[in-house]
Amino acid sequence: MDNLLIHGGQTLAGQLRVSGAKNAALPILAATLLTSEKTTVRNLPHLHDITTMVELLGSLGADLMVDEKLAIEVDAGTVNVLRAPYELVKTMRASILVLGPLLARFGHVEVSFPGGCAIGSRPVDLHLKGLEAMGAEIQIEEGYIKARRKGRLQGADITLETVTVGGTENLLMAATLAEGKTIIRNAAREPEVVDLAQCLCAMGAKISGIGSSTLEIEGVPSLHGADYTVMPDRIEAGTYLVAVAATGGRLRLEGAVPHHLDIVLEKLREASASVTIGDDWIELDMEGRRPKAVTITTAPYPGFPTDMQAQFTALNTVAVGVGRVTETVFENRLIQTHEMNRMGAQISIEGNMAMIVGQEKLKGAPVMASDLRASASLVIAGLVAEGQTRVDRIYHIDRGYECIEEKLQSLGADIRRQPG
Ligand code: EPZ
Repeated sequence: MDNLLIHGGQTLAGQLRVSGAKNAALPILAATLLTSEKTTVRNLPHLHDITTMVELLGSLGADLMVDEKLAIEVDAGTVNVLRAPYELVKTMRASILVLGPLLARFGHVEVSFPGGCAIGSRPVDLHLKGLEAMGAEIQIEEGYIKARRKGRLQGADITLETVTVGGTENLLMAATLAEGKTIIRNAAREPEVVDLAQCLCAMGAKISGIGSSTLEIEGVPSLHGADYTVMPDRIEAGTYLVAVAATGGRLRLEGAVPHHLDIVLEKLREASASVTIGDDWIELDMEGRRPKAVTITTAPYPGFPTDMQAQFTALNTVAVGVGRVTETVFENRLIQTHEMNRMGAQISIEGNMAMIVGQEKLKGAPVMASDLRASASLVIAGLVAEGQTRVDRIYHIDRGYECIEEKLQSLGADIRRQPG
């Protein structure tokens, strides 16, 4: 298994271009299943999760054409297998996103039931309840969710008990082809949900309230093909900003949407970074300063993103002062702190809160990644540690960060991949 070898201590500086957003690209690729016409999706990041979703579409019978500029043309007119197998779903939970589109278009589908993962139990009950409210019959048999409908799905008034990104996306996609109006209340407002909704509109869907917590969808009998460009990855952008800030450096990010990162940029300013923004760029300069500790509490958008929590925890380990990090979205997402403590960090956990007493320096150590964002936070810890850090199990990183070592090297980091 590959690992990343980091010799910490460099002050990072330079310029990067943000890649396409993984968490927008995945539902948008699933949405191509809603039409029998060809759909082109552009600005896809080069990541394992995207390859898995493409493999899943192929296994359903879709015809795919990938070009060298990270665009893919999906012809879902040839889909003839209505089953997402365990082998693919177990490697990527986001496979559940084909449930809504396939049920709405074809009337029946089987999707392997996704299990929990390192960050929490991650149930999909709200996806299923919402589809049932739209008239679907759902059974769980032999580890599979088996869903079918008689006639078209029916528009429904659905209130989600918890804000769920994937649940909102699945129901939104299904509702585009339902008969009548669907209202999704307490919907997720994440920019990735907005990107999906805009792609669906480009395919002929009728959606209002986009970006708000109440989505209204007027079902149409069919959708058509479209040519859609995926939004920039706000979490990738935020991760590099934090990495550079932790080293006291400076960074210009091109191709970003600064507004998607409002609260993250606010916290970076609080950490004493000087941050300036333009239409599609962000500049951060620490002017050599050590960051100040910040206190954060994760929440659905526009709150502080859970996907940026681990990176800020890493920043706090070398900050001046004491930071508190409270995780409210997933129950087991502070696990990276134990690995950080092995590097000399001083983090204590109480329930869902981590208290981090900033240290002047961490010490390099072999550490193990447990999930995607935790891995990124260990890389950040390695960049600010004295000596050598080896991050194992980096397949997690390759699921969400395109060419991470090349991007960090271009900023002056001493990081390389070692085949294991
Ligand atoms: C999406 O996961 C993202 N994944 C996650 O990013 C992200 O952390 C998360 O949203 C929150 O922002 C993708 O977009 C592919 P949820 P998702 O449904 O949709 C509970 C990353 O690192 N819940 O919004 O699976 C759930 O247990 C990944 O890129 C239910 O109770 O998350 C959690 O506590 C990790 N019942 C909360 O809601 C349900 O039916 C939010 O989960 C669904 C969810």
